[in-house]
Amino acid sequence: MTTILLLHGPNLSQLGTRDPAHYGTDTLDDVVAAARFEAEAAGATLVAEQYEGEGELISRLHAARTDGTDAVVINAGALTHYSYALRDALEMLDAPCVELHLSNIHAREEFRRRSVIAPACNGSIAGFGTAGYPLAVRAALGLLSDDE
Ligand code: DQA
Repeated sequence: MTTILLLHGPNLSQLGTRDPAHYGTDTLDDVVAAARFEAEAAGATLVAEQYEGEGELISRLHAARTDGTDAVVINAGALTHYSYALRDALEMLDAPCVELHLSNIHAREEFRRRSVIAPACNGSIAGFGTAGYPLAVRAALGLLSDDE
């Protein structure tokens, strides 16, 4: 069975009440459910975890190298814009990776327009809110079928 690891970084636990103008009103559970629905419809398993800490996310990516994870979808929150350590951890993965954001980071403040993790990912989806989650799952599954 194909396993997709969906990771969320800091502050995404607060979805639902956090800055609805940018992130909408869906909760973390809601966006995970949208991703899970898409994965399960394709016969895949979705494992979803959220960490407030950079180190925890990095440790989880290390574990993903050997735990049967086939692909990673990551919304790294603000770490996206400055964490070279997270980028290094993503570069170590053999599994393909999709970068995901609810908001259109390219249309926001200057500091959000740059993703330091993007070069370590196969591609990015941003700006489609909750609808981006099933898109990211489809993208991850597509990368896996390209591998076959
Ligand atoms: C975000 C965008 C980031 O800039 C921000 O720090 C987040 C959420 C998004 O999903 O749009 O925490 O990754």
